[in-house]
Amino acid sequence: QIAVSPTLMVGVVCPVAHMTRVFVYGTLKKGQPNYFRMVNASNGQAEFLAHARTVEPYPLVITTKYNIPFLLNEPGTGQRVYGELYRVDQQMLDFLDKFEGCPERYQRTKIQLEVQDGDGEGEHTPRPGRFEEAFVYSKHEPAWLQNQTYESYDAYGDHNCWYT
Ligand SMILES: *[C@@H]1O[C@H](CO)[C@@H](O)[C@H](O)[C@H]1NC(C)=O
Ligand SMILES: *[C@@H]1O[C@H](CO)[C@@H](O)[C@H](O)[C@H]1NC(C)=O
Repeated sequence: QIAVSPTLMVGVVCPVAHMTRVFVYGTLKKGQPNYFRMVNASNGQAEFLAHARTVEPYPLVITTKYNIPFLLNEPGTGQRVYGELYRVDQQMLDFLDKFEGCPERYQRTKIQLEVQDGDGEGEHTPRPGRFEEAFVYSKHEPAWLQNQTYESYDAYGDHNCWYT
C-alpha cells in the first residue's frame, strides 16, 4: 500500500500550474472601458505580461450598433494587431469566456504573437522579440471583411465609433 496524501491527490487531478495566456486587443486593455474587469479579484487573477503584436495580419474591425471591436479569424488580411498579453487563472478564463459570450459571440482560438515589451519584473515576463502563443477571442464573420481595419484599438480614438 502506498499512502497518497490528499494534497498530492489534488495536485494530480487539478495541476496547480493551471495558468493560461490570453491576448486582449480591445476594451479589456489598460485604459479601456472594461479593463477594470481584468483587475477585479472577484473575477480571478490576471497578470500583465507584455505588450504584444500578432505575427500575422488580422482584420480588427469595430462593428455592430454598440461599436464592439472584433478580431476576425482571417489571418493574412488586415493588419498586425497590437494588444496585451496576460497570464490568467482558470477562474479568470471562465469569467472571460462568459463576458465575451464564448462560444456564440466570440470564439476562443489560439494566436501567434511577437512580444513587444514586458514589465521586466515578473518571472513569467517574456523577452521582447520572443514569439508566444496565447488564446484570443476572435470571430469568423465574412460579412465584416469589407469594414475598415485597425492595427490598434482605442475606444477613445478618433474613429467616432463610441463603445456602448
Ligand atoms: C468585482 O466583481 C464583482 C463580481 O462580479 C462585483 O460584484 C464587484 O462590484 C466588482 N467590483 C468592482 C470594483 O468592479
Ligand atoms: C461595415 O461595412 C458595411 C458594409 O461594407 C457598412 O454598411 C457598415 O456601415 C460598416 N460598419 C462600420 C462600423 O464601419
